[in-house]
Amino acid sequence: MTILTAKPEHRSSRSTRQRHYLMCAPTYFDVTYAINPWMDPHTPIDADKAYLQWDILRNTYLALGHKVDIIDPEPGLPDMVFAANGGLVVGGRAYTARFTFPQRSAEGPAYQKWFLSAGLIDVHEAAETNEGEGDFLALANVILAGTGFRTTIAAHIEAAAVLDRAVVSLELVDPRFYHLDTALAVLENGFGSAPAEIAYFPAAFSMHSQQTLRQLFPSAVIVNEADACAFGLNAVSDGYNVVLPRDVTDMADQLCDRGYNPVGVDLSEFLRSGGSVKCCTLELHQ
Ligand code: ARG
Repeated sequence: MTILTAKPEHRSSRSTRQRHYLMCAPTYFDVTYAINPWMDPHTPIDADKAYLQWDILRNTYLALGHKVDIIDPEPGLPDMVFAANGGLVVGGRAYTARFTFPQRSAEGPAYQKWFLSAGLIDVHEAAETNEGEGDFLALANVILAGTGFRTTIAAHIEAAAVLDRAVVSLELVDPRFYHLDTALAVLENGFGSAPAEIAYFPAAFSMHSQQTLRQLFPSAVIVNEADACAFGLNAVSDGYNVVLPRDVTDMADQLCDRGYNPVGVDLSEFLRSGGSVKCCTLELHQ
């Protein structure tokens, strides 16, 4: 784990609070099919290495003071490790996932069962196709929602109704960035006193969505293609510490300049399935 240090002059302007995450151990993780351009079923995954990398990520969250719950992995679901796709939980309400590809469809009910066992009183089973926090990123006043490859616009409308929140639809156009959380990261969600702040890779979005993002977030961190391809935007921020893939360079410098603390981790085995830090982490938003 690499811990870079934020510029001291900005440090006091950032505040963090304890987060609650859900993760799934990579017991059955593998690449046995290809549903995004990063996946190649012909190159085997190193299971021990994957487990170690995942465990370091879990311990990183614990060391930063966050709470991590674990869902039991299920055999035959090699992508279940990507907990972000398991649903969207905001304000004690859950909107369940309904996967695009049949290979992942049983993950929806598995995560739904966990939400119910965790005592969430309001668990809404989705009728529309959506891949949870892979395509829904919650800010205090709005939910940013991706579409184009997995989650449908109909699901954006359904999530807005179920969670009683405004949803801004953003169209993804580059198959390498097939989920919103591969193209855009929430740095500060705005639930506290600080204004919402995001980072994104503009070319992953349609022209219209780029314009929407410029209007909503004129001072966003703009990430270059190399850092986006290293999955830099697949990051998890607590408002100060930003856990992200360790190979990211320019994005990490920009985060330091703005007073964030980039915490680099190595998730190379998961990149081979098209996932990284955020994909492995579902935030249970209060
Ligand atoms: N192999 C998985 C898929 O293509 C990766 C999912 C990554 N998850 C994410 N939240 N972006 O579905």
